[in-house]
Amino acid sequence: MSQLLKVQCFNVSRDGFGAGEGQSLDRPFGHADPTPLWSWAGATASWVARTDPGGTRGLDDHLTRDHTRNIGAEIMGRNKFGPQRGPWENHEWQGWWGDTPPFRTPVFVLTHHERPSFTLADTTFHFLDARPAEALERAKQAADGRDVRLGGGVATVREFLEADLVDTVHIAVAPVDLGRGERLWKSHTDLLDRFHLETVPSPSGVTHLLFWRR
Ligand SMILES: NC(=O)c1ccc[n+]([C@@H]2O[C@H](COP(=O)([O-])OP(=O)(O)OC[C@H]3O[C@@H](n4cnc5c(N)ncnc54)[C@H](OP(=O)(O)O)[C@@H]3O)[C@@H](O)[C@H]2O)c1
Repeated sequence: MSQLLKVQCFNVSRDGFGAGEGQSLDRPFGHADPTPLWSWAGATASWVARTDPGGTRGLDDHLTRDHTRNIGAEIMGRNKFGPQRGPWENHEWQGWWGDTPPFRTPVFVLTHHERPSFTLADTTFHFLDARPAEALERAKQAADGRDVRLGGGVATVREFLEADLVDTVHIAVAPVDLGRGERLWKSHTDLLDRFHLETVPSPSGVTHLLFWRR
């Protein structure tokens, strides 16, 4: 079976924003409080940062668990990796995730600014200035037969959707409005000419939108 490019567990507000405005070191999501966007996943038994036993075991847990299943590489935009803009002033910043990033695969960070690869625990970050199709090719090679996750942020997901390279999309729509920021879409109906859609409300309050190619 061919390798897929998948958007998984991507969170948007009811009005279509995946991040707020004005990202900084203190506010990775900009002005927006990210908690209402991702708390459905954080409450599950399979949440990657869970330190205590417990957590929910229903639909939200199933989708959270699926986030890593058969994933061999991730592609992300430079603003998901960090708050810096422009040329790298130094290479001290190694992402938001500390010494043990949760990816545990090669990660391709798209950026116009050159930087050498580095490895933290079992995640290697590569920096790539490439068109979406080229980046996907590199990530597929690195994924060694497994699928590739398109991890965000918002502009990067939009870019790959526009290039028509995405095979499956899972968006969790939270019952909050952000009003401004990085917008994924005006309406999810934008995708319906190219994707099938199943809409599944969860008891946690989010609505899961599952798209797959027509
Ligand atoms: N809602 C969610 O589930 C979710 C998930 C992940 C992240 N986020 C949030 O989303 C926000 C980041 O999203 P964003 O839309 O601001 O930015 P982004 O998609 O993370 O990154 C965009 C940047 O990546 C670089 N880039 C993208 N495509 C490129 C290409 N083909 N070639 C070279 N460089 C390329 C460019 O940076 P340069 O030109 O500067 O190099 C571009 O400005 C953060 O607040 C993050 O916390 C939300």
